Amino acid sequence: MSGDLRFTVISLSYVAAALLFIFGLRRLSTPRTARSGNRLAATGMLVALVATLLDRSIVSWWEIAIGTAVGAAIGIYSARRVHMTAMPQMVALFNGMGGATAALVSIAEFIRAANHAELPGTGAAISGALGIAIGAISFTGSLIAFGKLQEILPGRPLLFPGRHVVNGALALAIIALGTWIASGTITQSSVWGLFGVALLLGVLVVLPIGGGDMPVMISVLNSLTGVAAALTGIVLSNQVLVVAGMLVGASGTLLTLLMSRAMNRSLTNVVFGGFGATTAATGTAVARPVRQTSAEDAAVAMAFANRVIVIPGYGLAVAEGQRQVKELSAELEKRGVDVKYAIHPVAGRMPGHMNVLLAEADIPYDQLLDMEQINQEFDHTDIALVVGANDVVNPAARTDRSSPLFGMPILDADHAKNVIVLKRSMNAGFAGVDNELFYSPNTQMLFGDARKSLGALTEALKGV
Ligand code: TAP
Repeated sequence: MSGDLRFTVISLSYVAAALLFIFGLRRLSTPRTARSGNRLAATGMLVALVATLLDRSIVSWWEIAIGTAVGAAIGIYSARRVHMTAMPQMVALFNGMGGATAALVSIAEFIRAANHAELPGTGAAISGALGIAIGAISFTGSLIAFGKLQEILPGRPLLFPGRHVVNGALALAIIALGTWIASGTITQSSVWGLFGVALLLGVLVVLPIGGGDMPVMISVLNSLTGVAAALTGIVLSNQVLVVAGMLVGASGTLLTLLMSRAMNRSLTNVVFGGFGATTAATGTAVARPVRQTSAEDAAVAMAFANRVIVIPGYGLAVAEGQRQVKELSAELEKRGVDVKYAIHPVAGRMPGHMNVLLAEADIPYDQLLDMEQINQEFDHTDIALVVGANDVVNPAARTDRSSPLFGMPILDADHAKNVIVLKRSMNAGFAGVDNELFYSPNTQMLFGDARKSLGALTEALKGV
């Protein structure tokens, strides 16, 4: 291939890859098109990889082939083995690798340039220094997030005195080293020094964050990795890396804002609040009488209902009861009951958690309704079946100014004629607060693991 033709093919491939990323991302916005969106984006990545292999002077094909094979094997193995509830830590780990890669590529490029006495331009030097710092923070921050969620590290906020001063001093050191590099002092010690200080800052920023807030933090770290990748793209003059990095950075930022808004928390409250520190202390509700029901009685009530709305929550994911919930719905539908699912934006522990969980059981997307769509339907609903959800149906969010949930939009389960709650005990949910819905006269509690209770309900329903 002649040089000009190769350049044209590579440039067009990069444009095609960028378009595939953008359209793929667009399709990820609804569950119905999410699978094809994922495939489009993966195809874009393949196009970008092949074009990059054509573009760059390859050091060793063997090294690339071995690296690709090892990476693909680890990726396929972990994607297949990971439990749905462990998805946030897997995302954290993969994100950390992205941050480290972005930082190391910038370092390698700086060292290569220094060895050949080719100083990068000021723009590239600033981008490289920022890429190293942000990538390194994202790397260690993500590893700490992984450790907390995997329970290798304590999940509670680890607060140490003077942390803001120490973090401030590290941030100043990063700015000083970055400025030094950007002004042309590219040496092994300045570059690795910047990397080392940023690694430490990543650890110290994430340690004080409680395990429960980690999904929001992972989203922040994800956008940082995107920015680091885009900056590395500037250093390498690789347009597709710039576009892909900016897309990750922008979508991570949007997701972070959406999650914070849906939880009615400010981002500063998540990053500096030490939220989980207080929830642990108030984790168990005070004993008060509640109405209990049995699978048989609940099945009779549901069999004679016209309309049932299922509200899935984190407990359904823990119990891995998504197939059982589908079997129960099928049994109800056989009897002419109208069944829908109410999806709260932050039900579970990661964005889209309930959509992914229910899609796993092939529950039709048109039965899944977002909070804004379904809330007015509760008034005409016979039974709200709450399966392992708690905070997302807590009416205190509307009325109790002292509640950590105050202001968070909730699913109006309490507007249904009857509420049946499937959970194991009276323990609180993520926010650590009691839920008045469970004590309401039209609520009945069916205690037990959600998967077992759903199975028992389906069996009982068959006998009604
Ligand atoms: P939670 O309020 O956390 O409540 C889950 C409930 O499930 C618990 O009360 C628990 O009660 C029950 N449960 C646990 N394991 C169970 C099992 N095996 N069978 C039956 N029940 C089980 O969940 P939610 O209503 O989904 O609300 C999500 C919370 O997480 C919100 O506060 C949200 O702000 C927060 N959060 C969400 C995200 C995202 S992005 N989704 C990120 C960070 C934080 P028992 O122990 O009594 O069974």
